Amino acid sequence: MSALVEVRDLVKHFPISQGVIFRRQVGAVHAVDGVSFDVNEGETLGLVGESGCGKSTTARLILRLLDPTSGEIRFEGEDIAQSRRAELKPLRRKMQMIFQDPYSSLDPRQTVGSVIAEPFTVHGLHTGEGERRRAVQALMEQVGLNPEHYNRYPHEFSGGQRQRIGVARAIALKPKLIIADEPVSALDVSIQAQIINLLRDLQRELGLTIVFIAHDLSVVRHMCDRVAVMYLGKLAELAPSDGVYGCRHHPYTDALMSAVPIPDPRVSRSRQILTGDVPSPTNPPTACRFHTRCPRMTEVCSIVEPPLVDYGEGHIAACHHPVNTNPEELARVTIAPESSATAGDLLPEREAPDLAASGAHVSSASSPT
Ligand SMILES: Nc1ncnc2c1ncn2[C@@H]1O[C@H](COP(=O)(O)OP(=O)(O)O)[C@@H](O)[C@H]1O
Ligand code: SF4
Ligand SMILES: [Mg+2]
Repeated sequence: MSALVEVRDLVKHFPISQGVIFRRQVGAVHAVDGVSFDVNEGETLGLVGESGCGKSTTARLILRLLDPTSGEIRFEGEDIAQSRRAELKPLRRKMQMIFQDPYSSLDPRQTVGSVIAEPFTVHGLHTGEGERRRAVQALMEQVGLNPEHYNRYPHEFSGGQRQRIGVARAIALKPKLIIADEPVSALDVSIQAQIINLLRDLQRELGLTIVFIAHDLSVVRHMCDRVAVMYLGKLAELAPSDGVYGCRHHPYTDALMSAVPIPDPRVSRSRQILTGDVPSPTNPPTACRFHTRCPRMTEVCSIVEPPLVDYGEGHIAACHHPVNTNPEELARVTIAPESSATAGDLLPEREAPDLAASGAHVSSASSPT
């Protein structure tokens, strides 16, 4: 499978300045800090992590709505990390974004017809009035909206229908890549599944590649071929969906996973409750950024940044004391090329750490979920 997008050691630091007359930089928000991954042609890649871990920043960097601090971004093999605005214009047709809050991303004074037609206007397509109307109405039909509602305003639609308007606008130019940034987080649970099914159907029909961003694992479960888990600007784990939901290796993924409900009342499992807030990305914890909240943390975790290691079959994780593995598997792991430039070269320990000595920061409770 070929990669449509290749991200290599991508970094985005937002400077923090102080002073009224002489502004000087006093620090930086480490929003994305050395992240590497591919998005393969035709796949849906989930990007998951708590609020503030850098998901939206990663999305905006890939679409070049933001300039990276450093690192490479390749789209169809072409390095676009430093491309200028004019050079990006032809690429904009091929990459589109769907936003979390459909209402705030729609202009309330424009009719739905003109909202969906906007990409045509920007790129000079379907210039005749009748032709444009037909193209927009075909899109409305494709996303499950009534084409007769062409002249209505966004406030006349429900949340789910507004997100359909966002989807119609995103597919108008027949893009190759769609980045959906928490597209269902603001919707009722009953509506979420409808939008997820719509995206899945469109992906199949149009051969789209989708990056689907969510803050919890349950949403991406039925949608994604692979899932990448981020923590405080770093990639913690990336695996085919089966690997994340079945045999995840990173304690953070494990904690996120334990919050996913099992739809069977007879099944109970040990539930981990992540305590404490995500630390500030202005001054992130040393070495493994999860060490201030991790139940398996030992001294090495705060001294050496764990490299991303390759567990085979496309499964990579960055942890000195991984879960759900065994000494035989650990004897075979190697450092993955996706590992951050700042990480050490220490492979995971084959022995489980002494948890009693490590001082757990995650409480466990056995409860049916
Ligand atoms: N334009 C910006 N200026 C300064 N800090 C920003 C900016 N955009 C995002 N951040 C900070 O970067 C971090 C990552 O943000 P974001 O990528 O939006 O996270 P997520 O989408 O995972 O919630 C957060 O701490 C956020 O406050
Ligand atoms: S065990 Fe150590 S390296 Fe692994 S996630 Fe916990 S703190 Fe990080
Ligand atoms: Mg976000």
